[in-house]
Amino acid sequence: MNTHKTLIVGNWKMHFTIGESSMFIRKLEEQLKIPSSVEVVVAPTTLALQSVSLQLKHHRKFKLAAQNCFWRDFGAYTGEVSAHMLRGLTQYVIIGHSERRHAFGEIDKDIRLKVQAVVRNQMQPILCVGETAQERADGDTGFTLHDQVTAGLANITSEEMHRIVIAYEPVWAIGTGENAKTTDVAAAMKLIRKQVKDLFGKQASLDLRLLYGGSVDGANATQYLALPDVDGLLVGGASLKPEVFGDIIASAKS
Ligand code: PGA
Repeated sequence: MNTHKTLIVGNWKMHFTIGESSMFIRKLEEQLKIPSSVEVVVAPTTLALQSVSLQLKHHRKFKLAAQNCFWRDFGAYTGEVSAHMLRGLTQYVIIGHSERRHAFGEIDKDIRLKVQAVVRNQMQPILCVGETAQERADGDTGFTLHDQVTAGLANITSEEMHRIVIAYEPVWAIGTGENAKTTDVAAAMKLIRKQVKDLFGKQASLDLRLLYGGSVDGANATQYLALPDVDGLLVGGASLKPEVFGDIIASAKS
């Protein structure tokens, strides 16, 4: 759809200590062959971002993402890490992941402010959207995606849209091994791109990078990457296995 490299993001979630993250990065550096047409991003725990960033300095084989951030730059917000503090450390920040929405009660208002804070701090948000099993069963997938995309991007201008990545992740497919049908993924992607076009214009919709995520592995990556609106993948569990992550990256080449 656009001229960007295929984007493969590995979300490590709450796995690996600082030391384990560093060892895992070394393993990935040794094992992974990254084709020039593919951009690889890994999202370790916040605590390991600095050490991993220093470790990667010499090679820059991968880019880094944070898994979350807070939207105020600083202040009395116990336990939070701001987008401002991540600036210079990571290129991307995952925002509104379904685990943030459902396990930590994040609502559209938080997500919209976080997306804006990431852009304001010169990084790129990966805005996650996706319907629950119930919403799909009720035939509400389109409404859910419409609401989440509109709300998530409400503070963004057309000029800023080139920084935005959206990941479509059906909640019921995350970490479950349940594979979404390619026809359903294609329909959801088309809807999201059309909505960005309606909101921000044609150029923004062409520039937008759209990722698919939800139980992606070495065996099914190719079928999702082959869809016309898919520019890459957001990978959870399979990114914790170097060989499988390597297979996914290899599928992205073709
Ligand atoms: P999964 O996770 O690949 O383990 O389903 C995807 C995600 O949470 O982004």
